Amino acid sequence: MYDDNPTINSLTKVINESKQGEVYAPEGEDKVYDKYYYIESYGCAMNFSDSEIVASILSDNGYGSTRDMAQADLILVNTCSIREKAEETVRKRLRVYNTYKKKKKGLLIGVLGCMAERLKSKFLEQEKLVDIVLGPDAYRDLPNLLTSAEEGERGVNVLLSREETYADISPVRLGNNGVSGFISIMRGCDNMCSFCVVPFTRGRERSRDPFSIVAEAEQMRVEGFKEITLLGQNVDSYKWTNPETQENVSFADLLVMVAKVDSKIRVRFSTSHPKDIDDEVLFAIRDYHNICDYIHLPVQSGSSRILELMNRKYTREWYMKKIKRINEVIPECTVSSDIIAGFCTETEEDHQQTLSIIEESGFIMSYMYTYSERPGTLAARKYKDDVPHDIKKRRLTEIIKVQAASSAASNKKDLHKTFEVLIEGDSKKSKADFRGRTSHFKVIVFPKIEGYKPGDYAMVHVDNMTSGTLLGNIVTT
Ligand code: SAH
Ligand code: SF4
Ligand code: F3S
Repeated sequence: MYDDNPTINSLTKVINESKQGEVYAPEGEDKVYDKYYYIESYGCAMNFSDSEIVASILSDNGYGSTRDMAQADLILVNTCSIREKAEETVRKRLRVYNTYKKKKKGLLIGVLGCMAERLKSKFLEQEKLVDIVLGPDAYRDLPNLLTSAEEGERGVNVLLSREETYADISPVRLGNNGVSGFISIMRGCDNMCSFCVVPFTRGRERSRDPFSIVAEAEQMRVEGFKEITLLGQNVDSYKWTNPETQENVSFADLLVMVAKVDSKIRVRFSTSHPKDIDDEVLFAIRDYHNICDYIHLPVQSGSSRILELMNRKYTREWYMKKIKRINEVIPECTVSSDIIAGFCTETEEDHQQTLSIIEESGFIMSYMYTYSERPGTLAARKYKDDVPHDIKKRRLTEIIKVQAASSAASNKKDLHKTFEVLIEGDSKKSKADFRGRTSHFKVIVFPKIEGYKPGDYAMVHVDNMTSGTLLGNIVTT
Protein backbone atom coordinates (compact mmCIF):
# COMPACT_ATOMS: atom_id res chain seq x y z
CA MET A 1 0.00 0.00 0.00
CA TYR A 2 2.89 2.27 0.69
CA ASP A 3 5.40 1.65 -2.00
CA ASP A 4 6.02 4.01 -4.78
CA ASN A 5 3.75 2.20 -7.11
CA PRO A 6 2.64 5.13 -9.18
CA THR A 7 -0.71 3.74 -9.92
CA ILE A 8 -1.80 3.41 -6.34
CA ASN A 9 -3.78 6.36 -5.27
CA SER A 10 -5.82 7.27 -2.34
CA LEU A 11 -9.19 7.74 -3.83
CA THR A 12 -10.82 4.49 -2.87
CA LYS A 13 -10.35 1.16 -1.36
CA VAL A 14 -11.37 -1.02 -4.27
CA ILE A 15 -8.83 0.66 -6.46
CA ASN A 16 -6.18 0.51 -3.81
CA GLU A 17 -6.64 -3.16 -3.41
CA SER A 18 -7.10 -4.15 -6.96
CA LYS A 19 -4.08 -5.11 -8.94
CA GLN A 20 -3.19 -1.94 -10.76
CA GLY A 21 -3.56 -2.07 -14.46
CA GLU A 22 -6.10 -4.77 -14.04
CA VAL A 23 -8.00 -5.57 -17.17
CA TYR A 24 -11.47 -4.26 -16.80
CA ALA A 25 -14.21 -5.81 -18.78
CA PRO A 26 -17.75 -6.74 -17.91
CA GLU A 27 -18.06 -10.40 -17.19
CA GLY A 28 -20.21 -12.91 -18.98
CA GLU A 29 -20.77 -11.19 -22.29
CA ASP A 30 -21.95 -13.81 -24.73
CA LYS A 31 -23.05 -11.59 -27.60
CA VAL A 32 -20.74 -11.64 -30.61
CA TYR A 33 -19.44 -8.30 -31.86
CA ASP A 34 -17.61 -7.19 -35.00
CA LYS A 35 -15.02 -5.35 -32.97
CA TYR A 36 -13.62 -5.75 -29.48
CA TYR A 37 -11.86 -3.37 -27.14
CA TYR A 38 -9.53 -4.17 -24.29
CA ILE A 39 -8.95 -1.51 -21.62
CA GLU A 40 -6.41 -1.25 -18.83
CA SER A 41 -6.64 1.46 -16.19
CA TYR A 42 -3.96 3.00 -14.01
CA GLY A 43 -4.12 5.74 -11.43
CA CYS A 44 -6.88 6.83 -9.14
CA ALA A 45 -10.49 5.82 -8.86
CA MET A 46 -11.46 8.75 -11.05
CA ASN A 47 -9.56 7.10 -13.87
CA PHE A 48 -11.26 3.77 -13.26
CA SER A 49 -14.58 5.54 -13.19
CA ASP A 50 -13.71 7.31 -16.46
CA SER A 51 -12.90 3.95 -18.04
CA GLU A 52 -16.51 3.01 -17.30
CA ILE A 53 -17.66 6.08 -19.22
CA VAL A 54 -15.38 5.15 -22.12
CA ALA A 55 -16.75 1.59 -22.03
CA SER A 56 -20.25 2.99 -22.30
CA ILE A 57 -19.31 5.16 -25.30
CA LEU A 58 -17.68 2.17 -27.00
CA SER A 59 -20.59 -0.09 -26.29
CA ASP A 60 -22.93 2.48 -27.91
CA ASN A 61 -20.64 2.37 -30.93
CA GLY A 62 -20.82 -1.35 -31.46
CA TYR A 63 -17.74 -2.50 -29.59
CA GLY A 64 -17.76 -5.54 -27.34
CA SER A 65 -15.35 -5.79 -24.43
CA THR A 66 -12.71 -8.44 -24.03
CA ARG A 67 -10.27 -9.42 -21.33
CA ASP A 68 -8.04 -11.07 -23.90
CA MET A 69 -5.60 -8.70 -25.56
CA ALA A 70 -5.14 -11.06 -28.49
CA GLN A 71 -8.85 -10.79 -29.35
CA ALA A 72 -8.84 -6.98 -29.26
CA ASP A 73 -9.21 -4.68 -32.26
CA LEU A 74 -8.65 -1.71 -30.01
CA ILE A 75 -6.36 -1.54 -26.97
CA LEU A 76 -6.89 1.40 -24.64
CA VAL A 77 -4.82 2.40 -21.66
CA ASN A 78 -6.12 4.94 -19.19
CA THR A 79 -3.03 6.57 -17.76
CA CYS A 80 -1.79 8.40 -14.67
CA SER A 81 0.88 11.08 -14.33
CA ILE A 82 0.90 11.57 -10.58
CA ARG A 83 4.46 10.31 -10.11
CA GLU A 84 7.22 9.55 -12.55
CA LYS A 85 6.90 5.82 -11.99
CA ALA A 86 3.26 5.95 -13.08
CA GLU A 87 4.37 7.13 -16.47
CA GLU A 88 7.16 4.56 -16.68
CA THR A 89 4.62 1.81 -16.09
CA VAL A 90 2.51 3.03 -18.99
CA ARG A 91 5.50 3.14 -21.33
CA LYS A 92 6.29 -0.45 -20.41
CA ARG A 93 2.72 -1.49 -21.12
CA LEU A 94 2.82 0.26 -24.49
CA ARG A 95 5.72 -1.95 -25.46
CA VAL A 96 3.60 -4.99 -24.65
CA TYR A 97 0.63 -3.72 -26.67
CA ASN A 98 2.96 -3.01 -29.56
CA THR A 99 3.94 -6.65 -29.80
CA TYR A 100 0.25 -7.40 -30.43
CA LYS A 101 -0.04 -4.57 -32.92
CA LYS A 102 2.83 -5.98 -34.92
CA LYS A 103 1.03 -9.32 -35.10
CA LYS A 104 -2.45 -8.05 -35.91
CA LYS A 105 -3.08 -5.75 -38.85
CA GLY A 106 -5.53 -2.95 -38.09
CA LEU A 107 -5.19 -3.17 -34.34
CA LEU A 108 -5.50 0.33 -32.88
CA ILE A 109 -3.86 1.61 -29.72
CA GLY A 110 -5.27 4.54 -27.77
CA VAL A 111 -3.86 6.40 -24.79
CA LEU A 112 -6.39 8.05 -22.48
CA GLY A 113 -6.26 9.99 -19.24
CA CYS A 114 -3.78 12.16 -17.45
CA MET A 115 -0.59 11.21 -19.26
CA ALA A 116 -2.34 11.78 -22.59
CA GLU A 117 -3.32 15.22 -21.36
CA ARG A 118 0.15 16.03 -20.08
CA LEU A 119 2.07 14.95 -23.17
CA LYS A 120 -0.52 15.78 -25.83
CA SER A 121 0.73 15.33 -29.38
CA LYS A 122 4.22 14.60 -28.08
CA PHE A 123 2.85 11.15 -27.41
CA LEU A 124 2.41 10.49 -31.09
CA GLU A 125 5.96 11.66 -31.73
CA GLN A 126 7.44 9.56 -28.94
CA GLU A 127 5.34 6.43 -29.35
CA LYS A 128 5.14 5.63 -33.02
CA LEU A 129 2.57 2.87 -32.64
CA VAL A 130 0.00 4.89 -30.72
CA ASP A 131 -2.97 5.88 -32.90
CA ILE A 132 -5.14 7.92 -30.57
CA VAL A 133 -4.41 10.31 -27.70
CA LEU A 134 -7.45 11.46 -25.72
CA GLY A 135 -7.51 13.67 -22.65
CA PRO A 136 -9.99 13.19 -19.77
CA ASP A 137 -12.52 15.71 -21.06
CA ALA A 138 -12.52 14.49 -24.66
CA TYR A 139 -13.93 10.96 -24.42
CA ARG A 140 -17.06 11.84 -26.38
CA ASP A 141 -14.77 12.34 -29.36
CA LEU A 142 -13.49 8.76 -29.24
CA PRO A 143 -15.81 7.43 -31.98
CA ASN A 144 -14.65 10.21 -34.35
CA LEU A 145 -11.01 9.56 -33.67
CA LEU A 146 -11.58 5.84 -34.13
CA THR A 147 -13.13 6.41 -37.54
CA SER A 148 -10.15 8.53 -38.59
CA ALA A 149 -7.68 6.05 -37.12
CA GLU A 150 -9.29 3.21 -39.08
CA GLU A 151 -8.48 5.25 -42.18
CA GLY A 152 -4.89 5.55 -41.05
CA GLU A 153 -5.05 9.02 -39.53
CA ARG A 154 -3.59 9.29 -36.05
CA GLY A 155 -5.45 11.74 -33.82
CA VAL A 156 -5.22 13.80 -30.65
CA ASN A 157 -7.93 15.53 -28.63
CA VAL A 158 -6.79 16.93 -25.33
CA LEU A 159 -9.16 19.85 -25.01
CA LEU A 160 -10.05 20.48 -21.42
CA SER A 161 -13.54 21.66 -20.68
CA ARG A 162 -15.14 23.85 -18.04
CA GLU A 163 -18.45 22.02 -18.31
CA GLU A 164 -17.94 18.38 -19.19
CA THR A 165 -19.10 16.02 -16.41
CA TYR A 166 -20.39 13.14 -18.58
CA ALA A 167 -23.55 13.48 -16.48
CA ASP A 168 -25.78 11.88 -19.11
CA ILE A 169 -23.60 8.83 -19.77
CA SER A 170 -24.48 5.71 -17.82
CA PRO A 171 -21.21 4.00 -17.01
CA VAL A 172 -20.74 0.34 -17.92
CA ARG A 173 -19.68 -1.09 -14.56
CA LEU A 174 -16.36 -2.80 -15.13
CA GLY A 175 -14.48 -5.24 -12.94
CA ASN A 176 -16.58 -4.60 -9.87
CA ASN A 177 -17.59 -7.04 -7.18
CA GLY A 178 -21.27 -6.12 -7.57
CA VAL A 179 -21.27 -4.78 -4.02
CA SER A 180 -19.28 -1.53 -4.15
CA GLY A 181 -19.22 1.03 -6.93
CA PHE A 182 -18.23 4.62 -7.60
CA ILE A 183 -19.97 7.72 -8.78
CA SER A 184 -17.96 10.65 -10.06
CA ILE A 185 -19.53 13.80 -8.63
CA MET A 186 -17.10 16.35 -9.97
CA ARG A 187 -14.07 16.71 -12.21
CA GLY A 188 -10.86 18.69 -12.17
CA CYS A 189 -9.22 20.52 -9.32
CA ASP A 190 -8.65 24.21 -8.60
CA ASN A 191 -6.32 23.75 -5.68
CA MET A 192 -2.85 23.99 -7.09
CA CYS A 193 -0.98 22.05 -4.44
CA SER A 194 2.55 22.79 -5.54
CA PHE A 195 3.62 19.14 -5.98
CA CYS A 196 0.57 18.06 -7.94
CA VAL A 197 0.03 17.54 -11.65
CA VAL A 198 -3.73 16.94 -11.42
CA PRO A 199 -4.88 20.55 -12.02
CA PHE A 200 -2.89 20.44 -15.26
CA THR A 201 -4.14 17.07 -16.42
CA ARG A 202 -7.75 17.35 -15.30
CA GLY A 203 -8.44 21.05 -15.70
CA ARG A 204 -10.77 23.29 -13.76
CA GLU A 205 -13.03 22.02 -11.07
CA ARG A 206 -16.69 21.51 -11.98
CA SER A 207 -19.54 19.82 -10.16
CA ARG A 208 -22.01 17.45 -11.72
CA ASP A 209 -25.77 17.92 -11.62
CA PRO A 210 -26.90 16.29 -8.33
CA PHE A 211 -30.05 14.85 -9.88
CA SER A 212 -27.97 12.85 -12.36
CA ILE A 213 -25.88 11.63 -9.40
CA VAL A 214 -28.97 10.51 -7.49
CA ALA A 215 -30.33 8.85 -10.64
CA GLU A 216 -27.07 6.92 -10.98
CA ALA A 217 -27.28 5.90 -7.32
CA GLU A 218 -30.87 4.72 -7.92
CA GLN A 219 -29.67 2.66 -10.87
CA MET A 220 -26.96 1.12 -8.70
CA ARG A 221 -29.59 0.25 -6.10
CA VAL A 222 -31.58 -1.55 -8.79
CA GLU A 223 -28.41 -3.41 -9.83
CA GLY A 224 -27.94 -4.57 -6.24
CA PHE A 225 -25.01 -2.43 -5.12
CA LYS A 226 -24.64 -1.97 -1.38
CA GLU A 227 -21.95 0.66 -1.22
CA ILE A 228 -21.45 3.84 -3.22
CA THR A 229 -18.30 5.96 -3.08
CA LEU A 230 -18.69 9.53 -4.30
CA LEU A 231 -15.54 10.58 -6.10
CA GLY A 232 -13.78 13.87 -6.65
CA GLN A 233 -10.33 15.32 -6.09
CA ASN A 234 -11.78 17.64 -3.48
CA VAL A 235 -15.32 16.55 -2.72
CA ASP A 236 -15.88 19.16 -0.01
CA SER A 237 -15.83 21.94 -2.56
CA TYR A 238 -18.68 20.32 -4.53
CA LYS A 239 -21.14 23.07 -5.36
CA TRP A 240 -24.01 23.10 -7.79
CA THR A 241 -26.48 25.88 -8.40
CA ASN A 242 -29.88 25.02 -9.77
CA PRO A 243 -30.18 27.18 -12.90
CA GLU A 244 -33.93 27.49 -12.43
CA THR A 245 -34.26 28.21 -8.71
CA GLN A 246 -30.73 29.48 -8.01
CA GLU A 247 -30.69 27.12 -5.03
CA ASN A 248 -27.27 25.81 -4.04
CA VAL A 249 -26.49 22.18 -3.36
CA SER A 250 -23.43 21.70 -1.14
CA PHE A 251 -21.47 18.50 -0.65
CA ALA A 252 -23.27 17.90 2.66
CA ASP A 253 -26.62 18.28 0.87
CA LEU A 254 -25.50 15.86 -1.82
CA LEU A 255 -24.36 13.30 0.75
CA VAL A 256 -27.78 13.37 2.33
CA MET A 257 -29.53 13.11 -1.05
CA VAL A 258 -27.51 9.99 -1.88
CA ALA A 259 -27.90 8.54 1.63
CA LYS A 260 -31.68 8.79 1.25
CA VAL A 261 -31.69 6.62 -1.88
CA ASP A 262 -31.63 3.54 0.35
CA SER A 263 -30.72 3.34 4.03
CA LYS A 264 -29.20 -0.10 3.35
CA ILE A 265 -26.68 1.33 0.89
CA ARG A 266 -23.51 2.63 2.47
CA VAL A 267 -22.22 5.97 1.26
CA ARG A 268 -18.52 6.84 1.26
CA PHE A 269 -16.61 9.68 -0.33
CA SER A 270 -13.09 10.53 -1.37
CA THR A 271 -11.11 12.77 -1.21
CA SER A 272 -11.65 15.42 1.43
CA HIS A 273 -9.37 18.41 1.70
CA PRO A 274 -8.64 19.48 5.29
CA LYS A 275 -9.15 23.14 4.42
CA ASP A 276 -12.64 22.53 3.02
CA ILE A 277 -14.36 19.84 5.07
CA ASP A 278 -16.94 21.57 7.25
CA ASP A 279 -19.30 20.87 10.13
CA GLU A 280 -22.24 20.28 7.78
CA VAL A 281 -20.45 17.26 6.33
CA LEU A 282 -19.63 15.99 9.82
CA PHE A 283 -23.26 16.43 10.88
CA ALA A 284 -24.41 14.46 7.81
CA ILE A 285 -22.06 11.61 8.78
CA ARG A 286 -23.31 11.74 12.37
CA ASP A 287 -26.99 11.88 11.45
CA TYR A 288 -27.16 9.20 8.75
CA HIS A 289 -26.27 5.66 9.76
CA ASN A 290 -25.45 4.70 6.17
CA ILE A 291 -22.96 7.55 5.64
CA CYS A 292 -19.85 5.77 6.83
CA ASP A 293 -17.90 6.89 9.89
CA TYR A 294 -14.69 7.33 7.98
CA ILE A 295 -12.87 10.25 6.38
CA HIS A 296 -9.87 10.14 4.10
CA LEU A 297 -8.21 13.43 4.98
CA PRO A 298 -4.73 13.62 3.43
CA VAL A 299 -2.32 15.63 5.56
CA GLN A 300 0.73 15.29 3.21
CA SER A 301 3.18 16.58 5.86
CA GLY A 302 3.20 17.31 9.58
CA SER A 303 5.33 20.43 9.22
CA SER A 304 3.58 23.78 8.80
CA ARG A 305 6.58 25.10 6.91
CA ILE A 306 6.38 22.29 4.35
CA LEU A 307 2.59 22.58 4.15
CA GLU A 308 3.03 26.21 3.22
CA LEU A 309 5.51 25.30 0.47
CA MET A 310 3.08 22.64 -0.70
CA ASN A 311 0.41 25.34 -0.94
CA ARG A 312 -1.98 23.17 1.07
CA LYS A 313 -3.51 26.27 2.73
CA TYR A 314 -3.58 24.84 6.25
CA THR A 315 -1.12 24.43 9.09
CA ARG A 316 -0.38 21.50 11.36
CA GLU A 317 -2.45 23.20 14.08
CA TRP A 318 -5.41 23.69 11.73
CA TYR A 319 -5.25 20.02 10.74
CA MET A 320 -5.15 18.89 14.36
CA LYS A 321 -8.13 21.13 15.14
CA LYS A 322 -10.05 19.39 12.35
CA ILE A 323 -9.19 16.00 13.81
CA LYS A 324 -10.39 17.16 17.21
CA ARG A 325 -13.63 18.47 15.72
CA ILE A 326 -14.22 15.18 13.89
CA ASN A 327 -13.73 13.29 17.15
CA GLU A 328 -16.10 15.63 18.96
CA VAL A 329 -18.91 15.35 16.44
CA ILE A 330 -18.46 11.69 15.50
CA PRO A 331 -16.52 9.90 18.25
CA GLU A 332 -16.49 6.62 16.29
CA CYS A 333 -15.10 8.19 13.11
CA THR A 334 -11.77 6.98 11.76
CA VAL A 335 -9.38 8.99 9.60
CA SER A 336 -6.79 7.97 7.03
CA SER A 337 -4.24 10.02 5.14
CA ASP A 338 -1.83 10.51 2.26
CA ILE A 339 1.75 11.41 3.10
CA ILE A 340 4.66 12.58 0.98
CA ALA A 341 8.22 11.95 2.18
CA GLY A 342 11.05 14.21 1.13
CA PHE A 343 9.32 17.21 -0.39
CA CYS A 344 11.64 20.07 -1.42
CA THR A 345 13.74 21.44 1.49
CA GLU A 346 12.31 18.93 3.99
CA THR A 347 14.63 18.69 7.02
CA GLU A 348 14.92 15.94 9.62
CA GLU A 349 12.90 18.15 11.93
CA ASP A 350 10.09 18.52 9.37
CA HIS A 351 10.18 14.77 8.91
CA GLN A 352 9.91 14.18 12.67
CA GLN A 353 6.80 16.34 12.63
CA THR A 354 5.29 14.12 9.97
CA LEU A 355 5.99 11.08 12.13
CA SER A 356 4.38 12.70 15.14
CA ILE A 357 1.26 13.86 13.31
CA ILE A 358 0.57 10.26 12.28
CA GLU A 359 0.60 9.25 15.94
CA GLU A 360 -1.35 12.26 17.14
CA SER A 361 -4.05 11.91 14.51
CA GLY A 362 -4.28 8.13 14.96
CA PHE A 363 -4.61 7.43 11.22
CA ILE A 364 -5.99 3.96 10.60
CA MET A 365 -3.91 3.82 7.43
CA SER A 366 -2.08 6.07 5.01
CA TYR A 367 -0.98 5.98 1.41
CA MET A 368 2.65 6.94 1.59
CA TYR A 369 4.93 8.12 -1.20
CA THR A 370 8.31 9.64 -1.84
CA TYR A 371 8.14 13.01 -3.53
CA SER A 372 8.41 12.84 -7.31
CA GLU A 373 8.90 16.10 -9.13
CA ARG A 374 6.36 16.65 -11.91
CA PRO A 375 7.17 18.91 -14.84
CA GLY A 376 5.20 22.15 -14.97
CA THR A 377 3.99 22.07 -11.36
CA LEU A 378 4.54 25.02 -9.02
CA ALA A 379 7.14 23.07 -7.05
CA ALA A 380 9.07 22.11 -10.17
CA ARG A 381 9.20 25.76 -11.20
CA LYS A 382 9.92 27.29 -7.81
CA TYR A 383 11.80 24.82 -5.62
CA LYS A 384 14.70 22.47 -5.91
CA ASP A 385 14.01 18.76 -5.51
CA ASP A 386 16.89 18.70 -3.04
CA VAL A 387 16.25 15.76 -0.73
CA PRO A 388 18.46 12.91 -1.96
CA HIS A 389 16.67 9.77 -3.09
CA ASP A 390 18.11 7.55 -0.34
CA ILE A 391 17.00 10.00 2.33
CA LYS A 392 13.51 10.12 0.86
CA LYS A 393 13.44 6.32 0.94
CA ARG A 394 14.67 6.16 4.52
CA ARG A 395 12.10 8.70 5.64
CA LEU A 396 9.38 6.80 3.82
CA THR A 397 10.42 3.62 5.64
CA GLU A 398 10.17 5.41 8.97
CA ILE A 399 6.77 6.81 8.05
CA ILE A 400 5.57 3.33 7.13
CA LYS A 401 6.74 1.99 10.48
CA VAL A 402 4.99 4.67 12.50
CA GLN A 403 1.84 4.24 10.42
CA ALA A 404 1.87 0.47 10.99
CA ALA A 405 2.04 1.08 14.74
CA SER A 406 -0.82 3.57 14.51
CA SER A 407 -2.93 1.07 12.52
CA ALA A 408 -2.20 -1.67 15.04
CA ALA A 409 -3.10 0.60 17.97
CA SER A 410 -6.39 1.47 16.29
CA ASN A 411 -7.16 -2.19 15.55
CA LYS A 412 -6.38 -3.11 19.14
CA LYS A 413 -9.13 -0.77 20.31
CA ASP A 414 -11.61 -2.75 18.21
CA LEU A 415 -10.85 -6.06 19.91
CA HIS A 416 -13.86 -7.71 21.57
CA LYS A 417 -16.30 -5.28 19.96
CA THR A 418 -19.04 -6.21 17.49
CA PHE A 419 -19.42 -4.34 14.20
CA GLU A 420 -21.89 -4.23 11.37
CA VAL A 421 -19.92 -5.52 8.40
CA LEU A 422 -20.73 -5.38 4.71
CA ILE A 423 -19.57 -8.65 3.16
CA GLU A 424 -17.57 -7.89 0.01
CA GLY A 425 -16.49 -11.38 -1.04
CA ASP A 426 -14.06 -14.16 -0.25
CA SER A 427 -11.01 -13.48 1.84
CA LYS A 428 -7.85 -13.30 -0.24
CA LYS A 429 -6.26 -16.13 1.69
CA SER A 430 -9.05 -18.65 2.12
CA LYS A 431 -12.28 -19.47 0.34
CA ALA A 432 -13.62 -20.62 3.69
CA ASP A 433 -13.58 -17.03 4.93
CA PHE A 434 -15.41 -13.87 3.98
CA ARG A 435 -13.89 -10.45 3.82
CA GLY A 436 -15.80 -7.30 4.56
CA ARG A 437 -15.54 -3.82 5.96
CA THR A 438 -16.82 -2.03 8.98
CA SER A 439 -18.39 1.39 8.52
CA HIS A 440 -15.11 2.87 9.70
CA PHE A 441 -13.27 1.22 6.80
CA LYS A 442 -11.49 -1.57 8.62
CA VAL A 443 -11.03 -4.81 6.72
CA ILE A 444 -12.38 -7.76 8.67
CA VAL A 445 -12.01 -11.46 7.87
CA PHE A 446 -14.29 -14.13 9.34
CA PRO A 447 -15.41 -17.71 8.63
CA LYS A 448 -18.29 -18.14 6.23
CA ILE A 449 -21.51 -19.48 7.70
CA GLU A 450 -24.67 -20.54 5.98
CA GLY A 451 -27.19 -17.90 5.06
CA TYR A 452 -24.68 -15.14 4.33
CA LYS A 453 -23.40 -13.99 0.93
CA PRO A 454 -21.49 -11.02 -0.51
CA GLY A 455 -23.61 -7.88 -0.32
CA ASP A 456 -25.19 -8.95 2.99
CA TYR A 457 -24.61 -7.21 6.27
CA ALA A 458 -23.41 -9.33 9.20
CA MET A 459 -22.73 -8.52 12.82
CA VAL A 460 -19.15 -9.63 13.41
CA HIS A 461 -17.41 -9.93 16.76
CA VAL A 462 -13.70 -9.09 16.68
CA ASP A 463 -11.63 -11.81 18.38
CA ASN A 464 -8.20 -11.07 17.00
CA MET A 465 -6.24 -8.69 14.79
CA THR A 466 -3.12 -7.97 12.81
CA SER A 467 -1.94 -4.44 12.10
CA GLY A 468 -3.83 -4.48 8.80
CA THR A 469 -6.85 -6.69 9.44
CA LEU A 470 -9.43 -7.49 12.07
CA LEU A 471 -10.37 -11.15 12.56
CA GLY A 472 -13.69 -12.26 13.91
CA ASN A 473 -16.82 -14.39 13.84
CA ILE A 474 -20.39 -13.72 12.80
CA VAL A 475 -22.73 -13.26 15.74
CA THR A 476 -26.08 -14.81 14.82
CA THR A 477 -28.21 -13.93 17.81
N1 SAH B 1 -7.00 15.16 -4.49
C1 SAH B 1 -6.48 14.33 -3.52
C2 SAH B 1 -5.39 13.41 -3.96
C3 SAH B 1 -4.79 13.52 -5.28
S1 SAH B 1 -3.36 12.66 -5.68
C4 SAH B 1 -6.02 15.19 -2.38
O1 SAH B 1 -5.86 16.37 -2.49
O2 SAH B 1 -5.81 14.64 -1.33
C5 SAH B 1 -3.16 11.45 -4.44
C6 SAH B 1 -1.97 11.60 -3.62
O3 SAH B 1 -0.79 11.43 -4.38
C7 SAH B 1 -1.80 12.95 -2.96
O4 SAH B 1 -2.61 13.09 -1.84
C8 SAH B 1 -0.34 12.96 -2.64
O5 SAH B 1 -0.08 12.38 -1.38
C9 SAH B 1 0.26 12.08 -3.72
N2 SAH B 1 1.02 12.88 -4.69
C10 SAH B 1 0.54 13.80 -5.52
N3 SAH B 1 1.54 14.34 -6.26
C11 SAH B 1 2.67 13.74 -5.86
C12 SAH B 1 4.04 13.87 -6.22
N4 SAH B 1 4.43 14.76 -7.12
N5 SAH B 1 4.95 13.07 -5.61
C13 SAH B 1 4.56 12.19 -4.68
N6 SAH B 1 3.27 12.01 -4.29
C14 SAH B 1 2.34 12.79 -4.87
FE1 SF4 C 1 -3.68 17.65 -6.38
FE2 SF4 C 1 -4.07 19.22 -4.32
FE3 SF4 C 1 -5.94 19.01 -6.19
FE4 SF4 C 1 -5.47 16.97 -4.56
S1 SF4 C 1 -6.26 18.96 -3.97
S2 SF4 C 1 -5.72 16.87 -6.76
S3 SF4 C 1 -3.29 17.10 -4.24
S4 SF4 C 1 -3.92 19.89 -6.44
FE1 F3S D 1 -3.26 9.97 -11.70
FE2 F3S D 1 -4.77 11.60 -13.03
FE3 F3S D 1 -5.76 10.32 -10.98
S1 F3S D 1 -2.66 11.93 -12.51
S2 F3S D 1 -4.00 10.12 -9.68
S3 F3S D 1 -5.04 9.40 -12.82
S4 F3S D 1 -6.30 12.36 -11.62
